Amino acid sequence: MNREREPVGVIGTGYVGLVTAAGFASLGSEVFCVDTDAAKIDRLLAGEVPIYEPGLRELIEQHRARMHFSTQLSDAVQHARLLFVAVGTPPTASGDADLTAVNQVVDAMPASESHALVMKSTVPCGTGATIQRVLRERARDGLRYVSCPEFLKEGSAVEDFLRPDRVVVGDEGDWAGDAVVGLYEPLQAPLVRTDVASAEMIKLAANAFLATKISFINEIANVCEQLGADVVEVAQGMGLDSRIGPKFLQAGIGYGGSCFTKDVSALKLLAGNSGYHFQLLSSVIEVNELQKRRVVSKLQRHLGELAGRRIALLGLAFKPNTDDMRGASSLVLAARLQAEGAHVRAYDPVAEHEARKLMPDLDYADSAEDVLQDADAAILVTEWPELLQVDWRDVAIRMRGDLVIDGRNALDGQAVRQAGLTYEGMGRRPCRQ
Ligand SMILES: NC(=O)c1ccc[n+]([C@@H]2O[C@H](COP(=O)([O-])OP(=O)(O)OC[C@H]3O[C@@H](n4cnc5c(N)ncnc54)[C@H](O)[C@@H]3O)[C@@H](O)[C@H]2O)c1
Repeated sequence: MNREREPVGVIGTGYVGLVTAAGFASLGSEVFCVDTDAAKIDRLLAGEVPIYEPGLRELIEQHRARMHFSTQLSDAVQHARLLFVAVGTPPTASGDADLTAVNQVVDAMPASESHALVMKSTVPCGTGATIQRVLRERARDGLRYVSCPEFLKEGSAVEDFLRPDRVVVGDEGDWAGDAVVGLYEPLQAPLVRTDVASAEMIKLAANAFLATKISFINEIANVCEQLGADVVEVAQGMGLDSRIGPKFLQAGIGYGGSCFTKDVSALKLLAGNSGYHFQLLSSVIEVNELQKRRVVSKLQRHLGELAGRRIALLGLAFKPNTDDMRGASSLVLAARLQAEGAHVRAYDPVAEHEARKLMPDLDYADSAEDVLQDADAAILVTEWPELLQVDWRDVAIRMRGDLVIDGRNALDGQAVRQAGLTYEGMGRRPCRQ
């Protein structure tokens, strides 16, 4: 006999909320999803999945009977005592985390002794303490508070929910923390149970560390270019050291996405607000911004003036297997190229719809073949599997020029060169014949 599973509420049905909801439904919970975006809820009620995430559609279809969607918070409050908050916390103009949506949820909470807010959204360290103070001031301190930061990665979010590296639960050691731990128990992941502030900090520190690793290898790549070394082989040699590990050592045109950019900036400002100047993170951010622009100088070195040149962007999403365009390096790159007067044509197998919202003036192609037609240069921006499989001999015939810049060091450079094209990666050694 299955033990009856705790029903849960999930507030916010974006990348994190929808995956969390489907994941808990797959573990046997009734899940009550709430979103203020009525159009999104209508699509979910109609059986549509509004985001692209491998395996998510299937998981939702399989457990649809246990998933309920509404625009009314009361529907979740009525059925579940644990209310997971997965609303957005985008950066403000100053780079701090915008907690407007989080505060809206807190404001809407009823006075209750039997509910808990479980914070999945990434919030600055200290947010939980502030929320608890506000609840006390409003005589709502019966409501429990748990920090349960989310570590899933877009592109493998379902897998990450079902097989997490760890589950972090920050709480005050009461029923709510125990209940959250119980929900995750079937996943048999290592558990870090700590206080709220430490849980909040774990999330920010983890993202800042990963961003630092990327900026570090990007700087090594830039030095490799000066000295004739090859960053891919350097990274391989570094990554085999078990203290370093091979992940996040892929040099390229910079990290993007909704999380790294905003979380690194939020941690830097959080430290600053508390009186500590987090110097390292300033450099991590600056290196990343410069890295996104580095391709432009590579193009100029080969082509001279870019005005009137036809540049093909292969991929736009911030990484493969997602349609998420938030913080994508392509946004900066395309804008820089357009500012230089280049004609920018782009193809992304999945993210075009999202990209059009942010870059309406770009010329969009229907396929990799189409985008490369008559191009003076091609840039691999996102390493989608289909873009790694293009036939370079065919490309050489289609293109007007011969320059291929591998912004992700993911192409077979030799195959590109054998087709008669000029290959240039990020931090790769010049052609070794
Ligand atoms: N996307 C990721 O890979 C990822 C990974 C880990 C953590 N996070 C964090 O999780 C949080 C959510 O990120 P996301 O990418 O899922 O965001 P998202 O923008 O995809 O989704 C947020 C959802 O919340 C809804 N919403 C906003 N205000 C609301 C309210 N008051 N009540 C109910 N719904 C509301 C929005 O309509 C939207 O559907 C952020 O804090 C983010 O930093 C994201």
